[in-house]
Amino acid sequence: MPLQRPYIVFITDATMENQTVSGQEIKQLDRSDLETRVKKMYTRVAEAPSGKFHFEMGRKLALRLGYTTAELDAVPVESIDSFAGVGYHFAMANIKPGEKVLDLGSGAGMDVFIATNKVGQRGRVWGVDMTKAQLQKSSNLALHHGFHDVSFIEGQIEDFDFIPGSLDLVISNGVINLSSEKAQVFKHISRMLKPGGRMAISDIVTGVQLPHSITCNSSLWAACIGGAMQKDMYSDLISDAGMEITVWTKNEQYGFISNSAKGATEEYKVHSISMLAVKTI
Ligand SMILES: C[S@@+](CC[C@H](N)C(=O)[O-])C[C@H]1O[C@@H](n2cnc3c(N)ncnc32)[C@H](O)[C@@H]1O
Repeated sequence: MPLQRPYIVFITDATMENQTVSGQEIKQLDRSDLETRVKKMYTRVAEAPSGKFHFEMGRKLALRLGYTTAELDAVPVESIDSFAGVGYHFAMANIKPGEKVLDLGSGAGMDVFIATNKVGQRGRVWGVDMTKAQLQKSSNLALHHGFHDVSFIEGQIEDFDFIPGSLDLVISNGVINLSSEKAQVFKHISRMLKPGGRMAISDIVTGVQLPHSITCNSSLWAACIGGAMQKDMYSDLISDAGMEITVWTKNEQYGFISNSAKGATEEYKVHSISMLAVKTI
């Protein structure tokens, strides 16, 4: 995929706690370099979820964000172990039986399985992700736990092939901040939705725009911080794509766990939100 424009990242030490946002070498990376880093991070999330990360994962996090025990008890435990979402948008999504739903950046599949239980046999759910280890994990779990009607597709959330105007709902949890082409992502979502279709997502945004000189720390980008966009700019992209935001909630229950991530969070007011938008065009 062609690089649209270069962006600045901080090259950091590989160990988590030694990373700081200031005083490091600045280098330009292209999109494929960033992609490699993101894939590496989320391969670890799939294969070794009990390891050390900037962010929390698993059942305790999911319960704190708002997932119900009934929702979690009805999906494979391994998908919950690798859950790396940042919010709970299923209440606002209000999924109805028979609906067609797509999860962007489906990870180990937890949200796809929850959505599948809600749409029932007449509905259909797809997950898209670019990290092979996540796709392998979610597909194996689907096979071994009787989720026969779900499909996990390898692709980029910016531009994978999907029938325009075919979806009732697009969901996504902790993913769009990782994209360097957010405008394209929202336009693609709008294109795939039916008229009146909904987008229910949780994501990381900032209160203050990250300064150009420190647009991101490569490791913090992959950890859902460095790529976060200022919240008004983020909502403008959604309106520009032809969707109207009807619910916007700050998730106070979500916080990053490493010291470097906490530092960036305080300085730039990095926070988690959940939101619902409706396609108006
Ligand atoms: C923070 S994890 C969240 C996964 C899942 N939504 C969850 O709640 O556990 C981000 C996921 O998005 C995927 N991802 C990141 N950028 C992507 C892109 N541009 N296209 C497709 N998948 C992407 C990663 O591979 C990873 O599985």
